[in-house]
Amino acid sequence: QSVSTRLKKDMIRGLGKHTHHRAPVKMLPTFVRATPDGTEKGDFLALDLGGTNFRVLHVRILEDEQRVVKMDSQICAIPQEIMLGHGEKLFDHIAACLAEFLDSHELKGQTLPLGFTFSFPCEQLDIDKSVLIRWTKGFNCSGVEGEDVVRLLREAIHRRGDYDIGSVAMVNDTVGTMMSCGYRDQSCEIGMIIGTGTNACYMEEMRNVKRVEGEDGRMCINTEWGGFGDDGSLRDIQTDFDLVVDKTSLNPGIHTYEKMISGMYLGEIARLVLVKLTEDKLLFDGQVSDALQTPGRFETRFISEIEDTGLENTQRILTELDLNWSLGDVRLVWLVCDTISTRSAQLCAAALATIANRIRNNRGLDHLKTTVGVDGTVFKKHPNFSQQLQATVRLLAPRCDITFLVSEDGSGKGAAMVTAVAQRLALHMLL
Ligand code: GLC
Repeated sequence: QSVSTRLKKDMIRGLGKHTHHRAPVKMLPTFVRATPDGTEKGDFLALDLGGTNFRVLHVRILEDEQRVVKMDSQICAIPQEIMLGHGEKLFDHIAACLAEFLDSHELKGQTLPLGFTFSFPCEQLDIDKSVLIRWTKGFNCSGVEGEDVVRLLREAIHRRGDYDIGSVAMVNDTVGTMMSCGYRDQSCEIGMIIGTGTNACYMEEMRNVKRVEGEDGRMCINTEWGGFGDDGSLRDIQTDFDLVVDKTSLNPGIHTYEKMISGMYLGEIARLVLVKLTEDKLLFDGQVSDALQTPGRFETRFISEIEDTGLENTQRILTELDLNWSLGDVRLVWLVCDTISTRSAQLCAAALATIANRIRNNRGLDHLKTTVGVDGTVFKKHPNFSQQLQATVRLLAPRCDITFLVSEDGSGKGAAMVTAVAQRLALHMLL
């Protein structure tokens, strides 16, 4: 409740005209003003950058069946030296992957509209103009922060000169997820990701979006809740382990909340706790292995595996990490994993409840019924994360009835959907 109260205040700071520039929770306008109405249709390309992989998709929206169909998709690896190198190289790489995809699917002659899911905090000036505020998660390319990402993409494509793209719509993955679920369920007004990073977006009343002109209707706000706590407001609940994870990360001091919740960091928190318990002679006879001493070696997926079927998995993982375990150790390791994943689910729930309560208040409703589109490996793969999260949300937002819709390929399909909705609205304006 206390975390939720603090976030509630920070969301208001993020939305305010004069307070947003120093607000840790950015509350970024997305220029997405409508969820799908079911009349969208056509062929689109979608790019998805921001998780562990980069993907290119060809998507078709069928009006009659109200369905988004993925025609084809391709995954391109992004080598670490590109993730940490110069931005121009990153965009050349993306343009090359797209070229290869268009070639192999004989799409090079067509100029298809493109939805670009770019899952980093961006100051969006319009649906096709979006300036990167800062990198998060595993990326840190030079020369991109402060630049318009759509321009960098177009320039890279023009440098090649062998194909072109049509209109572009930029979206955050949370927005893509909300929009792809919105096609199936028109009350889907929140999108949430709990994967490599964590974040959520929701439909806010225009009258509260002080930084964009206009009072009528709604606009989707990308909260960037990962940045919650960056001003020190969560210092009392950060542990020594959280502080080490932050200090040794690519971006110290940035995305405090995300570092307590998301997949990029949970494994490392667990590793640090296990090392400490071993040093205190409470585990493995006090013997720390080299593997356990190595940052990144205890992967987040181990937490899911250990909590899933328990003993055998835990024993296998501990043996692979060269640890001499006893049955007592196995039980204690399970408890460590359970503690860390439960904290993550409950923190996430506090944030989601804050958003749901806000939507209910915004609309002056006694009771809100709404749907959240969700994606991300932590939510999908962990055996009881989703249950924990839902139970805590019910506690913290008792007057909100929330349905969770797990999105399949949401960020890619959703990007196409945003492009389609933008085209529909542009056409309306012309008519
Ligand atoms: C990070 C990014 C955010 C994204 C989230 C989930 O928090 O800053 O834009 O939505 O990860 O991928």
